[in-house]
Amino acid sequence: MLKFIRNLLVTGGCGFIGSNFIHYIFHKTDYEGRIINVDKLTYAGNPDNLDGIDRQYPGRYHFERADICDFKTMADLFSRHDIDAVCHFAAESHVDRSIKQPGEFIFTNIVGTYNLLEIARAHMDHFVLFHHISTDEVYGSLGKRGIFRETTRFKPSSPYSASKASSDHLVSAYHKTFGLPVTISNCSNNYGPFQFPEKLIPLMTLNAIEGRNLPVYGDGKNVRDWLYVEDHCKAILTIMNGGKRGQTYNIGGNMEMENIVIVEMICDIVDELCGPDSAGPRRNLITFVKDRPGHDRRYAIDFSKLTNHLAWHPGESFQSGLRKTIRWYMDNAAWVERVRSGEYQAWMKEHYGE
Ligand code: NAD
Ligand code: TYD
Repeated sequence: MLKFIRNLLVTGGCGFIGSNFIHYIFHKTDYEGRIINVDKLTYAGNPDNLDGIDRQYPGRYHFERADICDFKTMADLFSRHDIDAVCHFAAESHVDRSIKQPGEFIFTNIVGTYNLLEIARAHMDHFVLFHHISTDEVYGSLGKRGIFRETTRFKPSSPYSASKASSDHLVSAYHKTFGLPVTISNCSNNYGPFQFPEKLIPLMTLNAIEGRNLPVYGDGKNVRDWLYVEDHCKAILTIMNGGKRGQTYNIGGNMEMENIVIVEMICDIVDELCGPDSAGPRRNLITFVKDRPGHDRRYAIDFSKLTNHLAWHPGESFQSGLRKTIRWYMDNAAWVERVRSGEYQAWMKEHYGE
């Protein structure tokens, strides 16, 4: 696996998918090179997610706190670590935040990606791969019918998806114009361990456990396609290994679900695992709230290119993946407490002096 890479720069490796990816690559593949994880540690980045990795894999894991928007620091890091490949996760990733404050999305997702591409281009003599992680949200919204293909025109709705679309275009332009070896993946909604509890599944899970309201936007009938995070990690590795340079691959779970159905499933699983709440079944906590502005109605993704060309397909069923995820949040109350409390901010202050 990834035999052609010696020093892989993973950006955003302390976030949800990035940390799952680093765990996966070390624990479950035969990759022998080094991973240099660069992360700014925003509210969404948590070094606890990778606790112990440096001791378990001495000399093969290096963490550096840095902002991908800081060109000079990133260029220095590339040279010091002799980076020959990048797997680029770092991003501002939450649609609701992008509606309230789009600025950071423009800097990190667009300017940050541009910086990495420029620096990679300066190392073209030995640079082997820039893999860019993106989302199906770049394609916009579907009605009752239709499906996103790699050839579907971009029509992003939110500042988040517009900034990701922009970064996707930049990555493919660096391939076309400069011959930079790149691959791009556009994936549907992920769920699993270590997801920051502002996204649908962890938010509803924790609120249900704690007996708080479950705020469903609009009529709850918006549809997303869902993929267990470990399946996403496998797909990324499959593309990095065998994907054709310059190509985009869609990744999906073949698991279209209405939000309300997911929230009801979460309620029922939490009722079963935690026992009944004194206030009755947790479905009673469901509250329909004002819709998100520009809320995309439906996503559905055709990932047959990845299946046909590279033999990848999702492994985890939604029912078992959701149950595993809910159990993980129940078993990791200390992690939840830290990411939600001032304690984590204090930890940051102690380690990084801010
Ligand atoms: P996340 O918000 O959990 O993690 C993002 C990480 O990037 C954090 O650790 C954060 O500290 C870091 N970061 C943010 N700004 C940075 C900067 N300027 N410099 C360095 N590091 C910075 O996000 P995630 O859910 O893990 O998503 C990772 C990638 O996958 C993103 O590019 C996202 O667009 C894409 N994606 C996510 C999903 C999903 O369902 N979560 C689906 C498809 C694609
Ligand atoms: P989210 O997890 O924010 O992912 P994305 O917007 O990138 O798809 O939201 C998933 C879906 O759940 C989306 O249709 C919005 C909806 N949603 C709610 O109904 N209530 C909530 O509190 C949140 C966070 C999301």
